[in-house]
This record gives sequence, structure tokens and C-alpha cells, in this order.
Amino acid sequence: MHQIKLNTPSGNTAISVGKELSKGLANLSPGPILLVDENVLCEHNEVFCPYTCLVVPSGERYKTLETVEKLYRDLVKIEADRSSLIVGVGGGLATDVAGYVASTFLREIPFGFISSSLLGQVDASIGGKNGVNLDGYKNMIGTIRQPSFVWCDLDLLNTLSHKEYISGIAEVIKYGAIMDEPFLHYLKDQMKDLLALDPAVLEKVVTRSVKAKVEIVEKDEKESGLRRLLNFGHTIGHAIERDQKLLHGQAVALGMVLASRLSVNLGMLSSSDAELIESVISSAGLPVEIALNPEEIYANIRKDKKKSGEMIHFILLDGPGSAVVKPIPMDELKPMLHDLY
Ligand SMILES: NC(=O)c1ccc[n+]([C@@H]2O[C@H](COP(=O)([O-])OP(=O)(O)OC[C@H]3O[C@@H](n4cnc5c(N)ncnc54)[C@H](O)[C@@H]3O)[C@@H](O)[C@H]2O)c1
Ligand SMILES: [Zn+2]
Repeated sequence: MHQIKLNTPSGNTAISVGKELSKGLANLSPGPILLVDENVLCEHNEVFCPYTCLVVPSGERYKTLETVEKLYRDLVKIEADRSSLIVGVGGGLATDVAGYVASTFLREIPFGFISSSLLGQVDASIGGKNGVNLDGYKNMIGTIRQPSFVWCDLDLLNTLSHKEYISGIAEVIKYGAIMDEPFLHYLKDQMKDLLALDPAVLEKVVTRSVKAKVEIVEKDEKESGLRRLLNFGHTIGHAIERDQKLLHGQAVALGMVLASRLSVNLGMLSSSDAELIESVISSAGLPVEIALNPEEIYANIRKDKKKSGEMIHFILLDGPGSAVVKPIPMDELKPMLHDLY
């Protein structure tokens, strides 16, 4: 088991990565109220049913204030109070919702997470961003509050669909690309074992990814600078995710491929380094060939809510394991996108 501390102005989190961590629920005091993803509850009923469970429905369409309101009412019904302890159990959706409920109910009650998806363990459960969607716009409503603990229980990943698991690998590769070149090479060498959920490789990969995210969040909790680097691959990723009905990680994978090629075209990255990143992505079974044309991508980026004025803040690489924020005027972006094909 590995333990990592996250310390920020808004709170501290004790993060654990290892096997059978969910058994630790028995030692919590007070007895926890679980806000648990419906599929995770179904797959791991024997682990979670001894505790008070409120169900978080699965699917982005349920990541709404209506779901939050229902959970508030359920909490009132079971007489939860300020001394209660909420534990969000599930992937990024359930922990985002549980964190939002816990940080607003009675103006905040103590909470922690048990993360059950790879994307959740390496990304969503770490860093204190909690929230829900509004009218289909992602994560429009939310808080930044750190859970007191996060348990990345590797055993839970055995029931995650392989497609969702691979989608999580995209965020893992992202950490290598933006801040850890040796990790990229490690992933290249160990991809077969990672895909087979080899316990030693998995523990190492999740731990290293968690440490990468912690390092960034500790320096920039509120995303005023450095934390933006975590959006590598996400500008184009978000622009194609909805249209192409791709899982988030698949869209981010394509976004990383195109952002790497853009970095090469701007003379910041060598083609062999871009090829290394592309080969790691493709060895994970993630897509590297894009079906959308540059005009469609450009139109979708224009709609991106993160676009400020006529500039877009693109995350590019100036080396493998090194990322920078580059403001690009929207009118210059269009020909740049064409040059990527
Ligand atoms: N807070 C953040 O910083 C942050 C960062 C990235 C993503 N997110 C959010 O995270 C969400 C995506 O997270 P996700 O990819 O984990 O998706 P998810 O939570 O929707 O889980 C994906 C699917 O896998 C199922 N599942 C999860 N764990 C399982 C398990 N162990 N066994 C069987 N099935 C399991 C879920 O029921 C769901 O159907 C999005 O809502 C996104 O906005 C938040
Ligand atoms: Zn992401």
C-alpha cells in the first residue's frame, strides 16, 4: 500500500493506493453514509451493503442538481447531521456528486472517497473539484473542497469494463507527456501488463499518477496557472468528445496526438518525441486516427466555454515530459489545424 499526502489551503487529504482498502470502512468512526454508484454497489454488494447506502445513479445525464436534491432529502430522512461522515464510492461521477453534496449539506460535513474507476483514481478523486452539470454543460456548478481521505482500491477495478479502464489510461499517459518522461518510457515498456491489470504495475502506475496530480494541485489548487497543464489533450478532446460519442479518455487520446503534432509544427517538439507519445497511446488501444475534419474541430473549439476572447489557451509540449500554456489567436488556429492532417 502507498500513502500520499495532499496539502492545500482548503484542506488536506490522505490518499491511499492499494488492495482491499474498502475493508477499512469497518474502522471508520462515525459509521459512514455511503453515496455509492449504482453499478459499483451491484458489483461489490458484499463489500458495501453492511453500511448505510444512498445510491448515485450512473450516467452523465444524472450528474445534476436533481440528483443532488434527492440525496439531500435522503440525508434528511436518515437524520444525517454535522457529525455524520459521507463517503463517495464510485468513479468520477459518483465522487464529484458526493463531494458536492457533502460540501454543501449543512454547509459542509466531513467526507472521503473510495474511487472505483481508473480515471477516478488517477484524476477525478484527487484535487477537490466537486460538482454537477447544468443543462448538459459539464461541471458548471461546484465547489473546491478537499475530501479528508481518498482510497484508490485496486481490487474494485476488476469489475470495471475494459473500455472504461483503457479510457483511464489516457489520463495516465497525459502525466507522462506533460511532466514525467521516464514514466512515458515505463508505460511503453509495461503497457501489456498494465492492460492485463498486473497488480504490481497497476499499483505503481496509479501511485505515480496520483503523485503527479498532487504535485500540480498543491502548487495551484484553484487553477490560476499550473493546473491548466492538466488540460493537455483536452481542448481538442472536449471538441470531439460529444460529436464522436467517444469516451472521455479516447477523445483526450486523440487530443494529445493532435496537440503533440501541433507542438512539432511549431518547432517545440521533435517528431520522434511526438511519435513516442503516439505509440504509447496506440499501444494502450486508444485511438490515434481522427474521424472529424479540421473545420469541424475548429467550429467545436469555438463553442468551448474555456475560450477567452479571441485567444485559446492551448497546452503544448516543449519536450517529452514538459508542457507549456500557449495562447493562440483563434484566427491563427484554423490553418494550424489544417496543417495537422
Ligand atoms: N473532479 C475532477 O477533478 C474530475 C476530473 C476528471 C473527471 N471528472 C469527472 O469524472 C467523471 C468521469 O469519471 P469516470 O470515467 O470514472 O466515469 P463514471 O464515474 O461515470 O464511471 C464510468 C462507468 O463505470 C462504472 N463503474 C465505475 N467503477 C466501476 C467498477 N469498479 N466496477 C464496475 N463498474 C464501474 C460506472 O457505473 C459508470 O457506468 C465525469 O463526470 C467527469 O466530469 C472529475
Ligand atoms: Zn480528462
